[in-house]
Amino acid sequence: MDFWQGIEALKARWTARAPRITDLLGDGDRNAALTGVAGSFVFDMTKTSIAADDWAELLALAADVPARRDAMFTGARINETEDRAVLHTALRGTDPVMVDGVDVMPGVHDTLARMRAFADEVRGGRFTGQGGTITDVVNIGIGGSDLGPAMAVLALAPFHDGPRCHFVSNVDGADWAETSKGLDPATTLVIVASKTFTTIETLTNAKTARDWMGGSVSDPAAQFAALSTADDKTRDFGIDPSRVLGFEDWVGGRYSVWGPIGLSLMIAIGPDRFDDFLRGAREMDSHFRTAPLAENLPVMLALAGIWNHQVCGYPTRAVLPYDNRLARLPAYLQQLEMESNGKGVTMAGDAVAGVAGPVVWGEPGTNGQHAFYQLIHQGKVPVPCEFMVAARGHEAGLDHHHRLLIANCLAQSEALLKGRSHAEARATIADRFTGAELERQAAHRVFEGNRPSTTLIYPQLTPEVLGGLIALYEHRVFAEGVMLGINSFDQWGVELGKELATSLGPLVDGADASGKDASTQALLAQLLAWRG
Ligand code: F6P
Repeated sequence: MDFWQGIEALKARWTARAPRITDLLGDGDRNAALTGVAGSFVFDMTKTSIAADDWAELLALAADVPARRDAMFTGARINETEDRAVLHTALRGTDPVMVDGVDVMPGVHDTLARMRAFADEVRGGRFTGQGGTITDVVNIGIGGSDLGPAMAVLALAPFHDGPRCHFVSNVDGADWAETSKGLDPATTLVIVASKTFTTIETLTNAKTARDWMGGSVSDPAAQFAALSTADDKTRDFGIDPSRVLGFEDWVGGRYSVWGPIGLSLMIAIGPDRFDDFLRGAREMDSHFRTAPLAENLPVMLALAGIWNHQVCGYPTRAVLPYDNRLARLPAYLQQLEMESNGKGVTMAGDAVAGVAGPVVWGEPGTNGQHAFYQLIHQGKVPVPCEFMVAARGHEAGLDHHHRLLIANCLAQSEALLKGRSHAEARATIADRFTGAELERQAAHRVFEGNRPSTTLIYPQLTPEVLGGLIALYEHRVFAEGVMLGINSFDQWGVELGKELATSLGPLVDGADASGKDASTQALLAQLLAWRG
């Protein structure tokens, strides 16, 4: 059956049944069918409105995933619109992978060895700044050249034993100004991370950093390193090739934390722990490649996503890590999911017959509970929630905090599931109100419940677990993209805005704006008036 016909059939049955998730939970086989295990992860999707027969039909919709997956892992040019292989998995792999008849793995391992050597030199004080041992590292990059390492460096803070790492991404000078405050240029290493080395935000920040450093040291470029596929451009910028770590065009920006773009993470936690990070991802790769679809965690996440978005029509999904150090995970997943699957055209160039990727958003729990959970519990549009929590934190003396964290995570999914009826709400306030006022007050305290969620649990947030977690989501995005028939590895939708920003540059300097639409002209005129 065609994917979209399958979706329509599932939608029709789900609408007719209008199931209560609590009723589905009575089914004895449900826990076994809708709970998946991979290495250190257990994924529970029992609190969704997927019934047993739905699950069997959803799995049939994933039938094309294995062939496409195998094509990806073996170096086929599955990024057809850019005519590229998709091999971020090779960055953490061990087995040979051929692209155009050449094994890419010796190059991958050579680059990893260079990263390791440089990270060791920085961490061991053998690579110094012009004022001595490197105390601070600033990664300048944006999108995939920022979000991955920034997210991972924060996530793995308990494992840091290298110099402090900072991240500058926004072309807003505030980002550079705030981040560079208090840094000593003579003991700072600047890493310019840009796959293309053409990204205007990154180059602007890199030049500002070079000027800043040039105010204090005689040879600023000597304290710069670059991570890029564009050797010629890094050379033009003045960075010595010995400090340029390259990668190939088969690594997409948002999938690039596993190689040179992860250098700041490697410097922060050390090469051995970086190896653990890669190993965690490799184990998830192996699971994705070998587990049957019905027990395959990335496929299960993908089908939960397809069910909630394409079948039930819920427009967004919230990622809610009950793990404060995963604070940047929602932003990271926004790029991974929305830049990959936020598409309207199929691989063949036709309009997608339904909706593709959902809006992804989120914040760590418990903070979100005191901010936007009101809407999640009582707003009219259900928001599928993806909870995640570790069994243990890293704060040995603060385990009572962690117990509360776990209790809150489980409480939220339970509250979303069960809700609170009018009668129950009335009972909670019957001692304070009577008559019509009791009914009115009770109405505000009703929770419809029946709100879907999934929960991912793991023992503790270690480098290995983080590697597995990111790989899990990468493969989930891939599997969803295969089912939707789209190319998850291009991002043409970012181009138009870049082109227009280039054309608007001179207008902000006062050039004739008459070619612009009336709205843009008016906004520009007011901004220019205020700029004086
Ligand atoms: O504009 C989008 C994008 O191309 C992302 O896909 C990418 O991660 C980011 O810009 C940064 O690109 P680069 O690493 O080439 O500077």
